Amino acid sequence: MSIETPEELEALRAAGRVVAEAIRAMRADVRVGVSTRELDEVGARVFARYRARSGPQLDYGFPGTTCISVNDEAVHGIPGKRRLRDGDLVKLDVTAELDGFYADACASVPVGNVSAECRRLARASRHALHRGMQAAHAGAAINEIGRAVEATVDSYGYSVCRDLAGHGIGRRIHEAPNVPSFRHPAFGQPLTAGLVITIEPIITAGRGEVRESGDGWTLRTRDGSCAAHFEHTIVITDAAPVVLTA
Ligand code: MF3
Ligand code: CO
Ligand code: CO
Repeated sequence: MSIETPEELEALRAAGRVVAEAIRAMRADVRVGVSTRELDEVGARVFARYRARSGPQLDYGFPGTTCISVNDEAVHGIPGKRRLRDGDLVKLDVTAELDGFYADACASVPVGNVSAECRRLARASRHALHRGMQAAHAGAAINEIGRAVEATVDSYGYSVCRDLAGHGIGRRIHEAPNVPSFRHPAFGQPLTAGLVITIEPIITAGRGEVRESGDGWTLRTRDGSCAAHFEHTIVITDAAPVVLTA
């Protein structure tokens, strides 16, 4: 969506705060032995406190409140009885709907002693997200975001999962436009002030290809390499974007 009124901005800010708080609470409970379902329940309790609802459940019938993906699981992992182990990288991808407005964010969190490579991968994704946000202002082409993201990921020697992109958001989880994390030749249209989008570099140390796994939801890296993912929901302005999920 594109924000037209101060009330819409305030409503999106409120949804963004719920997402940020849920991720903060879940992250605080990340430890060896915790199950992904237990982490999901932590997020669900934050949602309940604000009367927020799960975006993935609402829009897609996702079987969980939040998406929790571990190691080679890139996105859309289903919370369940899997217990986190020392050395895992867990991605907490949280989308809330509050009073009809959606916000979406993700953080990659190391569990215990994670390999230097995997930590560096997570740092690269976060760095790429911030570079992408710096490129996101009114008048810039949408593919300037992907150019900045990809250049950052390249500088670390990692790959973007090209099948997975950021997106417009606001009245639904996924709205136009698509926001690729690489320099896509076809995304030359300019960003406009008020537009609400996510930026979300999903990257791997391998080739960046993903495939569906047997559960109908989880996407894994084809080569089994670890994936990292950071995401924010932002509002485009003439200057630096407003980060709704910080
Ligand atoms: N949070 C995801 C995103 O960043 C959306 C998950 S919806 C699901 O786009 F239903 F596919 F899980
Ligand atoms: Co998300
Ligand atoms: Co998203």
